Amino acid sequence: MRKKIIAGNWKMNKTVEEAVELATAVKRELADCTEVDVVLCPPFTALKSVSDVVSETQIAVGSQNMSSEDEGAYTGEICHTMLKELFVRYVILGHSERREYYKETDEWINKKVIKALEKNLRPILCVGETLEERESGNMEKVVELQVREGLKGVSADAYTELVIAYEPVWAIGTGKTASAEQAQEVHAFIRATVKDMVGAEAADAVRIQYGGSMKPANAAELLGQPDIDGGLIGGAALDAGSFAEIVKAGM
Ligand code: PGA
Repeated sequence: MRKKIIAGNWKMNKTVEEAVELATAVKRELADCTEVDVVLCPPFTALKSVSDVVSETQIAVGSQNMSSEDEGAYTGEICHTMLKELFVRYVILGHSERREYYKETDEWINKKVIKALEKNLRPILCVGETLEERESGNMEKVVELQVREGLKGVSADAYTELVIAYEPVWAIGTGKTASAEQAQEVHAFIRATVKDMVGAEAADAVRIQYGGSMKPANAAELLGQPDIDGGLIGGAALDAGSFAEIVKAGM
């Protein structure tokens, strides 16, 4: 049985003060939640404050990116040591917004995944096709390549630590959700790809989240699918009540 994992991706939202307020509200609802792994991913500037709020609770903290390098002349970047110092446990890597706006490639994302695992941080590797790729019949090809390249060189036993997030780009922030059936189909495909890469045991163990306009109204159906092991929540994670409802749908 895979434990569900619900992560809130706050993106470029919330000042420190606002982040503390939101994290405090989430903590009120979910501090003792053990049935589902709960992760909050605020912007870098609020990581410390959010870590402080949720320390001594079951809620974990994640960052939205991480450098593939250890330290040095990389202006604007943040490395693993800096994140671990703030009690960060998870790192979202290869989000479609980073692929699209900042031109992150599979090769680069793979370097980050490897670095995160080496430093005992848990990567949440995001994959997903654009509308154009889906409509031209290339969804499987695109997703398979992102999974294979993003996880290249990762050993089978690391699959219990890492998380894959399937986020169809056309469903992110658009209000358009993949139907539970559409999402399940891709999740099963991703699991089959992992099986082909590293074997049945790792494929069985790896958690695959769905992301893209997941909200209280559709969470239960999505999370009820056999291969959907959680959610990566954007918009709905900015409201503590909605986020908590989604987590409860996963219990
Ligand atoms: P959304 O974002 O829930 O606002 O669609 C999800 C994500 O991009 O992680």
